[in-house]
Order: sequence, then structure tokens, then C-alpha cells
Amino acid sequence: MRVLLTGGAGYIGSHTLLKLLQDGRNSVMALDNFSNSSPEALRRVQKLSNSNFETHVGDYREPNVLDSVFDSFRPDAVIHFAGLKAVGESNEKPLLYYDQNVSGSIGLLDCMQRFGCKKIVFSSSATVYGEAQYLPYDEDHPLNPTNPYGRTKYFIEEIIRDWVASQSDASAVLLRYFNPVGADESGEIGEDPRTIPNNLLPYISQVAVGRLKELSIFGNDYETRDGTGERDYIHIDDLAAAHIQAVKFALDNRGCEAINVGTGKGVTVLEMVKAFEEASNREIPFQIKGKREGDVARSFAKVTKAQKLLGWRAEKDLVDVCRTAWNWQTKNPSGY
Ligand code: NAD
Ligand code: UD1
Repeated sequence: MRVLLTGGAGYIGSHTLLKLLQDGRNSVMALDNFSNSSPEALRRVQKLSNSNFETHVGDYREPNVLDSVFDSFRPDAVIHFAGLKAVGESNEKPLLYYDQNVSGSIGLLDCMQRFGCKKIVFSSSATVYGEAQYLPYDEDHPLNPTNPYGRTKYFIEEIIRDWVASQSDASAVLLRYFNPVGADESGEIGEDPRTIPNNLLPYISQVAVGRLKELSIFGNDYETRDGTGERDYIHIDDLAAAHIQAVKFALDNRGCEAINVGTGKGVTVLEMVKAFEEASNREIPFQIKGKREGDVARSFAKVTKAQKLLGWRAEKDLVDVCRTAWNWQTKNPSGY
């Protein structure tokens, strides 16, 4: 199959690109403007996979960029990763997020329609659920995102739903990722935040390697096993595999499905610190601080829909997460 990856050089995009190439049966194009990634990620994917793929450097919101990509590559399906993802920044610059994420996605769907490409897999997020009314979150849980970033994901989901409904042979898979973490086994590609990390695992990893002094734990009086926040951490390799299954599903089916991508199990901040200390053989100094605004106590997925529709489930565990994240961090202490 011919698959276009918007945001193909990013953290999740590069790991998915590698998997698509390792599958051996795919022609792939990565479109990226490197606003939050490095061309080095693509060079490394090429080396690791020992296969060629096409690259287009440009902003996916530019109609002439998309037209030229679709005209030359003619994809059967698109995996749409490109967009902005920092919750705090989205509170400060909501219009930037609506432009980059929502307007950008509308332009992409319009271009797909003009070129007869009717299959899309979209990077959504568990953040669309908001405060849990019950756990685990299943795909029918009410959607109530609590910040502009989360609302862009929610709006794009609805726009894709309408776009699919308007055409008889279109299909979409809205993958609601829980917390993607870890790195490829090779340690050649991984998560490379440009600024001080917002997310737990890259922060811990940079403390372990000595780039940051200590971890701040945001709250220890949540209603969880040990009082710290509980999340469903999904290994990037499993997440990449879910995309391959989702593209196949979209090509074989019609309609729009939202599907959780998680392990179904929650891990607390203190459990993650301990697991990382064991994997790295380093101490992670931390201080307990106040709660971070907008944080929920617990978040984890019901994963039966992914098993049923995609034949996919997470294989890797917390030990794999910490081992591969540490391998990537030690091989690339300053990122790419
Ligand atoms: P990332 O920032 O590493 O990757 C996004 C890529 O898109 C980057 O390479 C960036 O340069 C590119 N990009 C951004 N704007 C672009 C534009 N206008 N034109 C072309 N390229 C552009 O992020 P990621 O972690 O790989 O996330 C990928 C997708 O998954 C995002 O849509 C994100 O919202 C979603 N998501 C991520 C997480 C997570 O924790 N990483 C969780 C849920 C959902
Ligand atoms: C964050 C985003 C969410 C996004 C998700 C995956 C916020 C409010 N939410 O969620 O929209 O979908 O990442 O990218 O930013 N923690 C610390 N210290 C830190 C960092 C985190 O204690 O330095 C704690 C948090 O309070 C939380 C857990 O670690 O309990 C995980 O945090 P994080 O990795 O940021 O993920 P989410 O909070 O799930």
C-alpha cells in the first residue's frame, strides 16, 4: 500500500515509518516541516530499515505543498500525525492550535477528496475524554476535553466523522493514544523534546542522564495506590504496530471508528520512578510539588475494541519501556 505520513519525522511518526518499511510491502512518503523534529530521524529510519522512502519537506497547511505531494505520490491512505501537542502552549495560543490542527486537517481532507484518497488514520488522544465518569475509559465514554489542545482533537474527530459519512466508500480510524513512551530497540530513534519536557518519562530520563537536576512530582494526595497520578503508558513500538493494523482496517472497511490505544493498566508516578531507577541503575531525585492544573488522578484504557477490530494488543511492559527509553537516552544524551 502507498501511505502518506504527515508529521512522519516526529516521535510517533518516525517509529511508525520504520514499521511500515520493515513490513516490506509498503511505499511510504513522509511529509514534515521539521518544526518539532529533526531530519536526522528520517536518515536513521532509512539506515535501520535499509529501504528507501520519499520525503517532502513542507508545511501541510500549504495547499500547494499538499497538492504537489498528492499529485506525485498518489497515496492509498494517510496517517495524519502532524500538529501541535503542548497543552500549556495551547492555553496561551489557542488560535495557533486551531489553525495548525483543525484548519490544517480540513485542508488535508479537502486535498484527499480531490485526489480520490478516502482512507485516513488520525492521531487522536485520550485527552478527548476529560475527567473520568468511570474507568477504564471505553470509546463510548462522554467526550469533554478540558483544554484547547484536547478540543482540537475532539473537533477534528467530528470533522473526520462527517467527512466519512458524506462519501460512500471512505473510512477513518481515530486512534486515541493513551501515554506513548519508550523507544525503538536499536536506540537510534526516540523521543527528543526540543524544550524542557512536559511529560513524565522524558523528564525522568533527562534527570537520570544528568541533564536535569530533579523530578517534580505533581501531587501525592490523589486517590490512587500511592497518592501519585496514574496513567496508561503504551510502548511506542506497540503504538506503531497499532497504526499498521489501523491502515489495513481502513483499507478493508467503510465508516469511522474511534479506538483506544493503551495497555489497559495504570502505572503511578512513583512506580515509574522506581522502574526507571532499576532500568538505569541511577537514582532519580524528586520533590513532591503541588498538583499540575488540568491533571486527572487516574487514566487508563479499555482495550477490547482494538483487539476485536484491529487484532492488536500491547505486548511490551514497563520494563521494556524504561529499558528502551534509557538505551535511547544514553546513546543520544543530547537528542538527535
Ligand atoms: P511530534 O511533535 O514529535 O510529531 C509531530 C510532527 O509533525 C513533527 O515532526 C513536526 O515537525 C510535524 N509538524 C508539525 N506541524 C507541521 C506542519 N504544519 N506541517 C508539517 N509537519 C508538521 O509529536 P508526536 O508525539 O509524534 O505526536 C504525533 C501526533 O500524535 C500529534 O498529532 C499529537 O497530537 C498526537 N498525540 C501525541 C501524544 C504523545 O504523547 N506524544 C499523545 C496523544 C496524541
Ligand atoms: C499529558 C497531557 C495530555 C497528553 C498526554 C500525552 C497535560 C495536562 N496533559 O497528559 O493532554 O495527551 O500528556 O502526551 O499536560 N508528572 C509529574 N512530573 C512531571 C511530569 C508529569 O509528576 O514532571 C505526572 C503528571 O502529574 C501525571 C503523570 O506524571 O500524573 C503523567 O504526566 P504526563 O506524562 O504529562 O502525561 P498526562 O498527564 O497523561
